[in-house]
Amino acid sequence: MSIILFALFCSTAIAASFPGQHQLQSARAIPNNPGLQFNSDGDLSITVFSDLHFGEPSGEQNDWKSIGVMNSVLDHEEPDLVVLNGDLLSCEFVAPGKYKGLIDQVASPLVSRSLPFAATFGNHDYSETCSTLDITAHMWWDIKGTDGSKLSFTTQSVEGPVEEVGVSNYYIPVYSSSNKDNLAMLLWFFDSKGGHVFQPGKHLDAPIDDLVHDKVISWFQKTSDQFNQQNGRTIPSLAFVHIPVQATRAFQKSGQHSQSNTPGLNEDAIGHQGNCPGFDCYTHSDYAFMKALVETDGLMAVFSGHDHGVDWCMKWANELPTSPSKGNGVNFCFNRHSGFGGYSNWKRGARQIMVEEDKLGKHELETWNRLEDGSISGLVTLNATYGTDRYPKVEKLVSSGE
Ligand SMILES: *[C@@H]1O[C@H](CO)[C@@H](O)[C@H](O)[C@H]1NC(C)=O
Repeated sequence: MSIILFALFCSTAIAASFPGQHQLQSARAIPNNPGLQFNSDGDLSITVFSDLHFGEPSGEQNDWKSIGVMNSVLDHEEPDLVVLNGDLLSCEFVAPGKYKGLIDQVASPLVSRSLPFAATFGNHDYSETCSTLDITAHMWWDIKGTDGSKLSFTTQSVEGPVEEVGVSNYYIPVYSSSNKDNLAMLLWFFDSKGGHVFQPGKHLDAPIDDLVHDKVISWFQKTSDQFNQQNGRTIPSLAFVHIPVQATRAFQKSGQHSQSNTPGLNEDAIGHQGNCPGFDCYTHSDYAFMKALVETDGLMAVFSGHDHGVDWCMKWANELPTSPSKGNGVNFCFNRHSGFGGYSNWKRGARQIMVEEDKLGKHELETWNRLEDGSISGLVTLNATYGTDRYPKVEKLVSSGE
């Protein structure tokens, strides 16, 4: 895999749609997004660590165990890209000024391997004492691989107050293995926010909506359309967002999850965007985001964390009760809980995504969870018949020593 400069490929028309750097300018400006390239085997392998929850009072012990999970998974998978899909920290427990050191710990297995990574923020990354903007700048400027390379793709492409639009809204262009000017795929990253406003020392603990903001949705639709127009074809894509959309809960409640067709842990009542206090209370406020996802041609799958006891993939292929539109076949996958911080003691692991460039035309990819003990769980092919194909049941394994 090689990293090539975004500017090499993109016309100014698209480059101009990155106004978001203003937010970060006050700290240290982040230049335009670089891109990735399918590797010489024609594939791109992505490891998704999710819900690491570093910095909990239960202590360093847990964080060392989480680093052990990361090292084990990375040794087995040797991915081209790592996604840190939200709740990197449990910021409500993190003292002011301590978050950068914890982020350095989270990144240490990536630093030692000089592995590029892309983060989304989760509701536990937003607190009175943690600035997601500052974390983004720290990742971008200070975290380097042992080979000296910059590793973070995380940036802020949508301007606005952090409490509204969040920070981690951006994309990574992925170019063809045979031609670095040929755009093959887009990876989209969204900030579903949640948590509390950064205001150190004020003790106001003001909550933030757990939603992808309307401005971000417009930016996504506009930018995605521009890419398709400029290339004269639909660019296949994947998306990452910490908190899942409500369609996943509608799917779960309607009883469509089954161990043979959508194998995986199904041990939580899914908490989703637009949840409100009370059991199964729903504000419908993620309708616009769900609609945008469903209406984006070429979007193959959306990956989320947040719910530590769920790790299956579903295909949204039909009408779901209480969801805004009919699915078009887009897949939604839950990550495996990677951290020893956060609730649940299911065996830790990480979601793996294997995209083969020559299967992009069919919108087909493989995914599985690599567990901390090196085993593979819930290997599925997200293809046209996913959801009706039969797979072996996933075992409900728990982490040892707990
Ligand atoms: C999808 O993948 C499954 C598992 O590999 C396979 O059994 C099925 O035939 C595939 N469906 C299509 C349409 O290729």
